[in-house]
Amino acid sequence: MEGDDDMTAMAATPETMRAAVRERYGAPREIIEFKQVPKPELEDDQVLVRVRATSLNRSDYYTATAPIVLFRKLNGGSFRRPKTFALGGDFAGIVEAVGKDVADFEPGDEVFGARTGAFSEYVAARMIAKKPANVSFEEAATFGGSALTALQALRDKGKLQPGQSVLINGASGAIGPFAVQMAKALGAGKVTAVCSTRNVEQTRGLGADRVIDYTRDDWTKSGERYDLIVDVAATKPWRRIVRALKPDGTYVLVGSPITNPITGPLGKIGRLIVASRFTRRTFVFFIASFNKPDMEVLRELLASGKVKPVIERVYPFAQLVDALEYMGEGHARAKLVVTVE
Ligand SMILES: NC(=O)c1ccc[n+]([C@@H]2O[C@H](COP(=O)([O-])OP(=O)(O)OC[C@H]3O[C@@H](n4cnc5c(N)ncnc54)[C@H](OP(=O)(O)O)[C@@H]3O)[C@@H](O)[C@H]2O)c1
Repeated sequence: MEGDDDMTAMAATPETMRAAVRERYGAPREIIEFKQVPKPELEDDQVLVRVRATSLNRSDYYTATAPIVLFRKLNGGSFRRPKTFALGGDFAGIVEAVGKDVADFEPGDEVFGARTGAFSEYVAARMIAKKPANVSFEEAATFGGSALTALQALRDKGKLQPGQSVLINGASGAIGPFAVQMAKALGAGKVTAVCSTRNVEQTRGLGADRVIDYTRDDWTKSGERYDLIVDVAATKPWRRIVRALKPDGTYVLVGSPITNPITGPLGKIGRLIVASRFTRRTFVFFIASFNKPDMEVLRELLASGKVKPVIERVYPFAQLVDALEYMGEGHARAKLVVTVE
């Protein structure tokens, strides 16, 4: 569903599907429409999946609203018009057809994965893994972008070693609960999680060794120092972060509030790169990227129960905009799932 597609009203036929689409940027309620659009064409290495559930990531909200002007161009669109009408990323569903080069999936397989356009009845995707039989479609749909981001932040960028001490700033929401559980699953010695009062019990239940309520205590002033800080909330300046990092510790920046509508976090990242050069501590910013081996890692973590899906709310497809608006408020406790029936 690229920007040149015909988005005029279509009748429902076997070749069409219902999808949440948009033709411009803006608040979800103003721009998102449910329409009949052509089903995606299947490429030889893709699998056509009938979507049963999709889960929201913050990027879904940003894709609709495009709050950072520069990123509109970097994402391939123009300043006024997005490149693609399609919305959504994470999904779980049932394979309906496979491309001629696909050997490891067949129609009827239950899968989960990620592909732009997941807010629709069908997606044609490559980044998929088999859904473990012991989890629901709603649960499996949560193991997409947020889970992958937590994994790559801890394992690849943070280079977490068994026994190390880790702090997760922003331990609730879409990414935080995965980060807390994955830190434990990867063998961290002590996991300290930072969240607000209402999420303290949830976070403790996920296995955090210590939970700091940021509305009462400041983790940069506790005197404790960590091998690795994974920061999903980015609420502290470098001079304070340094106090909480061991001399050879690593700070992985995952996300940041948007303070500059033109360049987004680029200025902040630039300042952190420069500031970190004056210490032995390592600063890393990264953008998570899907790959097949990591889809398998997610499948194993899901199947083994070492990392459990944490779902705050499940919405029917017709209430997708409500879910996106709630995500946009920035205080979701855990994953928001939308069923696509
Ligand atoms: N680098 C990447 O590849 C990548 C990938 C995905 C997302 N991201 C970014 O990561 C960020 C978080 O994404 P998300 O999907 O997890 O967002 P989210 O679901 O909106 O969660 C944000 C969390 O931050 C917490 N928070 C807010 N203020 C805080 C503070 N002062 N101290 C500690 N925690 C605070 C909130 O908890 P309370 O409600 O308790 O305040 C909320 O749970 C976003 O900026 C997103 O763009 C980056």
